[in-house]
Amino acid sequence: DMDMTPYEHLGGEAVLKEMVTNFYGFVKQDEVLAPLFPDDLTETARKQIQFLTQFLGGPSLYTQEHGHPMLRARHMPFPITNRHAKAWLGCMEKAMDSVSLQGPLRDFIISRLTMTAYHMVNTSDDSH
Ligand code: HEM
Repeated sequence: DMDMTPYEHLGGEAVLKEMVTNFYGFVKQDEVLAPLFPDDLTETARKQIQFLTQFLGGPSLYTQEHGHPMLRARHMPFPITNRHAKAWLGCMEKAMDSVSLQGPLRDFIISRLTMTAYHMVNTSDDSH
């Protein structure tokens, strides 16, 4: 098991696709996040699957199609606060529940996503 990537450990493409699809279902229902996103999340989900595949050690699908992720720069058009980061992570926790992702692998992925999410914050607000 020690030679497996987090991507493989998670269950590869099938589980990642299900998790990301469910994630955007939760985003759509989230009153903090929904206003920032387009109505049709098909393309958003497709890019996120590509990104998380490489983020978790799988093939570099995102970079192959879109170049360097530059995630903070790509998020600059959207005003993202601590509240958004917290809500984003809450939706991801629910998506992880939906595929029964538990234990050290979940903790590892959440800790990396937490750093990334707060790195996207580009607008200050009063809530933490
Ligand atoms: C794109 C919001 C965090 C990865 C987007 C888009 C929005 C958004 C509004 C554009 C959607 C579209 O027009 O299709 C947010 C908010 C976050 C957040 C509010 C809260 C902190 C993250 C994190 C990651 C991430 C933590 C990575 C783990 C991406 C990717 C894209 C994207 C890969 C597609 C970029 C592209 O256009 O190629 N995000 N995001 N986001 N986000 Fe986030």
